[in-house]
Formats: sequence, structure tokens, C-alpha cells
Amino acid sequence: MIRLAKPFISYDEVEREFRDVFRSGWFTKGKYTDIFRNKIKEYIDVDHVFLTTSGTTALWVCLKALNVKKKDEVIISDFSYPATAHVVEDLDAIPIFADVDLNTFNMSTTELERKITDRTKAVIYVDALGNPSGVNAIKEICQHYKLPLIEDAACSMGSSESGKRCGSISDFTCFSFHPRKLLTTGEGGAITTNNTDLSKLLEVKLNQGAVPRENKFEFVDYGYNFRMSELQAIMGIKQLPRLDNIIKNRNKIRNEYIKYLEPLGFVSQHVMDDVVYNVQSIVFKVPKRIRRDELIKKLKLKGIESTLGTYCLSNTEYYKSKYNAVQSNAKFLGNNTITFPCYEGINVQKVITAVQLFC
Ligand SMILES: Cc1ncc(COP(=O)(O)O)c(C=O)c1O
Repeated sequence: MIRLAKPFISYDEVEREFRDVFRSGWFTKGKYTDIFRNKIKEYIDVDHVFLTTSGTTALWVCLKALNVKKKDEVIISDFSYPATAHVVEDLDAIPIFADVDLNTFNMSTTELERKITDRTKAVIYVDALGNPSGVNAIKEICQHYKLPLIEDAACSMGSSESGKRCGSISDFTCFSFHPRKLLTTGEGGAITTNNTDLSKLLEVKLNQGAVPRENKFEFVDYGYNFRMSELQAIMGIKQLPRLDNIIKNRNKIRNEYIKYLEPLGFVSQHVMDDVVYNVQSIVFKVPKRIRRDELIKKLKLKGIESTLGTYCLSNTEYYKSKYNAVQSNAKFLGNNTITFPCYEGINVQKVITAVQLFC
């Protein structure tokens, strides 16, 4: 079976440090989470890094730190994984779905401006499938309207725009380390920010509202336990140094797909000139003559896993019935894009041949 994705880490790599943790009995908030935080800080060039249990909890805590509450509006990219909307919904705030550009699949600047109201409390921009194309243009608009920008960079660790890595561009950036991501800690996530004031609040919120005082903790706020464990951090530490090489290899795989599939009418997600795309997912718009779901089924019969690009959030059953605000470009992309498998060592030609046969 050619899987959609395969984590690129072996047990041998982590065994020595895992043994160290088991021997010490120190499983959380210890030396390995500190090391991982610092490594991410250096890699991204950002002031503050917080490790979390997932990309979802990272997003959720940022909204809490910004005091997003009932009836506040949060503008979100409409082509994403549903977690982007769920965190807004969970706070009884209102997700305002902003349509996306049909080429980059990312939030359109005109759509963002059109959706801003007096009730807008924050913007969540998604680097769709790891591609941050256009994030700086969105940042300019947010700065103009004095709106905090949260970048949902669940997929974009290692990507950059205009020479700055994702994680150092927006007010807050949230990463996921789920096993489908380039860097995985099993489950897990991170928040990065240069905002020192709000970073203090994030630290407190992620740690049950506690701050260290002399020999004990004082609970200055209410909060949560969304902390990453030492074992997870070890996995992250091992993968980070090779991330840039992995990204180079994945771009080669992507170019191979483009070379053979574009002549058949598949159109790849557009990556702007000043962007480094980590190729988290290889997503194409399918040619008009092809039924996307049929292609997915046929590939499966040949032992090849593929899936839809990602979701039109406003067109999912829950959000459609609650808000009735389906965005046309996101809907088109939700119905007409496909993700092909990509991982280190994949036999790309096998996938390409199977697609060619179908076409
Ligand atoms: C764009 C986006 N946002 C948020 C998430 C949620 O991340 P996690 O699964 O780590 O909670 C995902 C997960 O794939 C995602 O793709």
C-alpha cells in the first residue's frame, strides 16, 4: 500500500533519550521540552515558543489569551481542517468564513476586508496545506485594522514567505505535530509569538493558571493542562535538524508530480515566488472531465491512498446548517481537489502511472 504520508522517524533514534526519561522518572516539563522549545526558537527566529498537546489546543489557547468570547466575530480561512472553525465555535464566538483564492487556496485579501466589522476580534489565516503564500498581505490588512492575526500553521513548519519562516510573521502562529505532518511528536503542537506581554498569559493558561512563587505555585488565573511530554519533545528534537532536507526532497517529489500530471490537466496549488513551501501535502485541482471521488476509489483499488484536498468549512454539515454561509471558491476546492501521497522514499512513478491509466 502506498500511504498518503509516513512519519520519518525510527525508534532507534530516540531509544537512548527515552531510556534516560524512564530512568529519571521525569516525564513532563523537563530538560527535553526545554531543548525542543529552544531549538524551535532558533530555527524560526522568534522570541517565545510554547509546546502544546495539539494544533487545536494551540489555536484555542491563543483565542483565550486574546479574550475572544461569546458573540465576538473571528474571521477564518474557509479552506482548512475543521479545527480552525471548532476553536471559535467552542468559545461561543462566531466563525466568519472568508473565501479563498482559487490559485493559492489561501484567504483572499479582498474577502478579508469585506468581512471585517466592529465585532471582529481576531483573524485566523490558514497556510493551506503548508503553503503560506499571501500571509504578509493579510498581515498588512490586520495591522491596518489593528486586528490580531493568528496564523494556523498546523501544516507549515519549515515554510517561509519573504525570507521569514512561518512562526515569525504573524502575531501568533500555531503548529501541529500530528503524524501526517513533516515533523511529528505523535500528537502535539506549538505556539510561537514575539508578543512578550501576551506570551506571559499563554504560559499561565497552558499551565493551569499557575506561576512559580518561592517554593510553590500560585494560581493567579484559571487555566488548562495542554503541555507536551518529555517523550514527545525527544521525537521533535530528533527531526528538526533534518527538516530543511526533507523539504528539499519533498519539493522534488512535487515537481515530479507536476511534470507528469499538469499535461493531463491537473493544476497544482500555486506557490508564490518568495515562498518556500514545505510540501506538507501535494494537492491538485482535478481536470473537469474527471470525477475526483472516482479517482480516489480507483487509486485505492491499486493500493494507493489519496484523499480530498481539504475541507470547505462553511460547507460541512454542522457549519452549513448553523450559519448558511457557504463560500463558493472554498466549496469548489473542497469538491475538486485531490491530495496525492508524499513521503521520503515514495515510488512516485507508481502513483503517476495509476493516475495516467485512469485519465
Ligand atoms: C489547518 C489545520 N488546523 C488545525 C489542525 C489541528 O491540528 P491537530 O490535529 O494537531 O489538533 C489541523 C490538523 O491537521 C490542520 O490541518
